[in-house]
Amino acid sequence: MKKYLPLLIITGLLLIVFSSLVTAQEKKAKLKYEGLTACKTCHSRDSIGGIEYTKYANGPHSKAFETLKNDESKKIAKEMGIEDASASPKCLKCHVTAYGKEDQHGKKFKYEEGVTCEACHGPGEKYKPMPVMRDHEACIKNGLIVPDVKGCKKCHNEESPTYVPFDFDKKWALIKHGKKKADKK
Ligand code: HEC
Ligand code: HEC
Ligand code: HEC
Ligand code: HEC
Repeated sequence: MKKYLPLLIITGLLLIVFSSLVTAQEKKAKLKYEGLTACKTCHSRDSIGGIEYTKYANGPHSKAFETLKNDESKKIAKEMGIEDASASPKCLKCHVTAYGKEDQHGKKFKYEEGVTCEACHGPGEKYKPMPVMRDHEACIKNGLIVPDVKGCKKCHNEESPTYVPFDFDKKWALIKHGKKKADKK
């Protein structure tokens, strides 16, 4: 029995390390989505975070939820045997932010806001304070995502009933905001 003792200790230590890794990941996964107003506060002012909000509000993603109530959606839904597109997981999964992650919805979060900043940039709970926002490394540590084409393709893919092949350069040009060019990987 004695010769197994070191093995037992090592296994025990590994278990401790493993479980703390899991909790760290869980913590990151439980960050709250704060809703559109949390970003609008600063990102509609040129003097602070820029005018990303204006660009967004006039772009396609801000209307993604409303779209599910129009005639085209009703037609698609009927063909697929879905009663109400704006209540069906089959449509909401791409037409709103953080679908199905109820435990991560902050107090002001609303599905009606459509595909918001946080759908692409990640839940804002920890990165939205000004001192964090001004420091890129701190942003990343606190859950900010720098989106790339892989992120777009989570929704822009064949599963979409109206799918059109996704050309990143062309599509990004239509919603471009911020200073840097998005990376295409
Ligand atoms: C308190 C004001 C404030 C709030 C609230 C805020 N931001 Fe920012 N954000 C800033 C400032 C300031 C910068 C830095 C801008 C610069 O350097 O030109 C910034 C930078 C960013 C960047 C670029 C960060 C980088 O380093 O790559 C992103 C993306 C961003 N914000 C998204 C968001 C999103 C999404 C929300 C809502 C969840 C949000 N911000 C809320 C002020 C704010
Ligand atoms: C959470 C899902 C989601 C993500 C992520 C997403 N989109 Fe979209 N996008 C949509 C939906 C839904 C629509 C349709 C909105 C509507 O018409 O109501 C759309 C529409 C668009 C449109 C206008 C329609 C078209 O195809 O020309 C452009 C441009 C676009 N997205 C670009 C992008 C780019 C670039 C990215 C990545 C940086 C991206 N999207 C990430 C869901 C998403
Ligand atoms: C896999 C993600 C995804 C799913 C699921 C999805 N959509 Fe979309 N939807 C998109 C994207 C992305 C666009 C932008 C155009 C494109 O590439 O299809 C879009 C665009 C649309 C449009 C506008 C088309 C146009 O002409 O611009 C309608 C209407 C629509 N979707 C309805 C629905 C309905 C109804 C459902 C559920 C039955 C649904 N979508 C499910 C991602 C999705
Ligand atoms: C459809 C996905 C998508 C949505 C929605 C979106 N962004 Fe972005 N955002 C991007 C991409 C892609 C980039 C370019 C990242 C890069 O390569 O620097 C970007 C860049 C930025 C930058 C500039 C980063 C820099 O360093 O120049 C800021 C600030 C920003 N977004 C804020 C916002 C805010 C605020 C909203 C909501 C009002 C928003 N974004 C909505 C995808 C999105």
